[in-house]
Amino acid sequence: MPQRSIEVREASGEDAEALARLCTQLGYPAESKDMPERLKKLAADANARALVAVDSGTVVGLATIHLRDTINHSTPIAQLTLLVVDARVRSQGVGRALVEDAERWARARGARRMVVTTALDRTGAHVFYERIGYTHTGRRYGKNFPPPQS
Ligand SMILES: CC(C)(COP(=O)(O)OP(=O)(O)OC[C@H]1O[C@@H](n2cnc3c(N)ncnc32)[C@H](O)[C@@H]1OP(=O)(O)O)[C@@H](O)C(=O)NCCC(=O)NCCS
Repeated sequence: MPQRSIEVREASGEDAEALARLCTQLGYPAESKDMPERLKKLAADANARALVAVDSGTVVGLATIHLRDTINHSTPIAQLTLLVVDARVRSQGVGRALVEDAERWARARGARRMVVTTALDRTGAHVFYERIGYTHTGRRYGKNFPPPQS
């Protein structure tokens, strides 16, 4: 597949339709109307960033990244909290470009490490992360809370 010439920039409210489509492709059904409020929360957080990859005017990828300070590290830890590339343009360098931009942003803010968690069944993503220099170092556990009593 040819590598694409893509631009990575901050996501904006005008990307709402594409963001909803990409979240839905990732397995989190979303509607365009939900996006501006979610983006607003990230924009208000200096330790968070939402990036889109744009190919000839079309948004083809989305990444979010968060920085967090901890007691056991002297520098902030960066976490890639969402990454998805449109199914029509996968394996053409878009995911790598998004992660590279996220890494630059994190390093410029003092982070010395990026982490990402990914579901066991996302086997394609596992290959991708190892391909771009990430090492499998742990497990993720999760628990859903019951809905609040009314
Ligand atoms: C995982 C994902 C983000 C990768 O983005 P992408 O644009 O397809 O990946 P890239 O083209 O930048 O790939 C970078 C390298 O990884 C390899 N790679 C990417 N996906 C791969 C796969 N499924 N199987 C094998 N190799 C893969 C590419 O061939 C490329 O190799 P190269 O160094 O030889 O060029 C994308 O496939 C995706 O959105 N998948 C579904 C959602 C998902 O799993 N997201 C991650 C959740 S944690």
